[in-house]
Amino acid sequence: MKIESHNPFFLRKHRYVLLKFALFLLFASLSFHIFFSVSLKLISSSLQKNTVAESPLDSTPILQDLAQIQPQNDSSTQCDIFVGEWVADPTGPSYTNESCHVIESHQNCMRNGRPDTGYLYWRWNPRDCELLRFDPRKFLHLMRNRSWAFIGDSIQRNHVQSLLCILSQVEEAIEIYHDEEYRSKKWHFPSHNFTLSVIWSPFLTKAAIFEDINGVSSSEIQLRLDELDEEWASQYRDLDYVVVAGGKWFLKSAIYYENNMVIGCHNCLEKNVTDLGFAYAYRKAIGLVFDFITGYDHKAFVFFRTTTPDHFENGEWFSGGQCNRTVPFKVGEVDMKDVDITMRNIELEEFDKVVSYRNGKVQTLKLLDTTQLSLLRPDGHPGPYRQFHPFAHSNAKVQTDCLHWCLPGPIDAWNDLLFQLLIHDVRA
Ligand SMILES: *[C@@H]1O[C@H](CO)[C@@H](O)[C@H](O)[C@H]1NC(C)=O
Ligand SMILES: *[C@@H]1O[C@H](CO)[C@@H](O)[C@H](O)[C@H]1NC(C)=O
Ligand SMILES: *[C@@H]1O[C@H](CO)[C@@H](O)[C@H](O)[C@H]1NC(C)=O
Ligand SMILES: *[C@@H]1O[C@H](CO)[C@@H](O)[C@H](O)[C@H]1NC(C)=O
Ligand SMILES: *[C@@H]1O[C@H](CO)[C@@H](O)[C@H](O)[C@H]1NC(C)=O
Ligand SMILES: *[C@@H]1O[C@H](CO)[C@@H](O)[C@H](O)[C@H]1NC(C)=O
Repeated sequence: MKIESHNPFFLRKHRYVLLKFALFLLFASLSFHIFFSVSLKLISSSLQKNTVAESPLDSTPILQDLAQIQPQNDSSTQCDIFVGEWVADPTGPSYTNESCHVIESHQNCMRNGRPDTGYLYWRWNPRDCELLRFDPRKFLHLMRNRSWAFIGDSIQRNHVQSLLCILSQVEEAIEIYHDEEYRSKKWHFPSHNFTLSVIWSPFLTKAAIFEDINGVSSSEIQLRLDELDEEWASQYRDLDYVVVAGGKWFLKSAIYYENNMVIGCHNCLEKNVTDLGFAYAYRKAIGLVFDFITGYDHKAFVFFRTTTPDHFENGEWFSGGQCNRTVPFKVGEVDMKDVDITMRNIELEEFDKVVSYRNGKVQTLKLLDTTQLSLLRPDGHPGPYRQFHPFAHSNAKVQTDCLHWCLPGPIDAWNDLLFQLLIHDVRA
């Protein structure tokens, strides 16, 4: 394999993510052909995002929601809720593997036999204010007749499951849609008429991915940097609230297209194509998303989540890396990996750019800057407990996951932060 000799990390990383896909696909008894045809569909169809005009009045319900719930002069609006530390909290999580029925097995650390439970007893404590606990009753009340979507990769799925678990204390969601691969899903909360969905779009822009069920790619990913993935963009006008995020898929080998022409690549083999690096594509994609969101006549309320760090230590995921810490880091005890620094800087720069370009008049785009606080939680990943009792068979190969988060776990705090942004930090 040429790609392998070129850079083993990327093909293997490929395989890892795709291995997880593969299991998923197997579960759903799906064939390679379906997957392949979905990829092709993505290339052949095109997004017509600006063809329908809509009244700007469309934005008022959301702004009215916010005007009603947000105190006009709240001290917490001055507080950066993303700066702080994790403090011990005997209260523990608001749900368990018993009370929540939607935890995917790879994140169900309790059920999978993770022996320590200390990681459940920490609370994020912003330096300059108190972080409220997510109030599912208040949230659902506010969300009557509203729709909310999480857009991105498997970390978004991880996040939405946390939200479903928290909300299930008040009302159990009914699944009303899933795609063939169970990657995009939609739920409805009937007594609140609230619709929640997760939309699979790992690159956010249009992408064709050519990988078989074993994660071996027959061709490099083709990434269109000037066209959004219609998988989410075509649904955008029906959404009231959105959480969107980029992520680690951008690290894979890919050919970049603009104007239907190859303009470069990342880690590709073609000698005549310039290697622009993943940062080029990441900046383009994020910028395109921000332009779309702020320029579109339909005003959804959008939270942009920054990159999520992994915690593989003493190796990468494929070379024996692990994450066996059982307590959080203190601020200053850990450095961010270069890849995360690069991604987060791009995210912050593009965010600032679009906000200042619009003269600060972007009322409905907020940063959910979870990178730093998540960096402090090496103890929150499944590690080997992504599998059911991984050490039950002594000679079985155990795959470690130090990227996704246990449920319950630190990712629940992301929802506390969302709730805080919704209630306090945003004004009409
Ligand atoms: C908001 O609070 C600040 C300081 O706490 C105060 O100076 C200002 O007058 C208040 N504004 C309103 C509209 O109450
Ligand atoms: C929940 O986790 C416990 C271990 O903490 C396990 O004994 C139990 O079977 C799990 N329950 C479910 C429904 O997964
Ligand atoms: C929800 O929508 C229904 C039907 O349009 C309407 O009767 C009801 O008043 C709405 N409820 C809220 C809280 O907006
Ligand atoms: C539910 O909410 C949608 C908007 O999200 C609205 O169109 C519909 O009328 C509502 N249904 C009921 C029964 O309130
Ligand atoms: C690079 O070269 C190959 C074969 O020599 C050709 O098929 C391809 O179109 C070239 N790509 C670009 C971007 O010029
Ligand atoms: C964690 O892993 C490291 C490296 O393999 C090992 O030295 C250490 O003893 C482990 N710690 C625990 C608590 O298992």
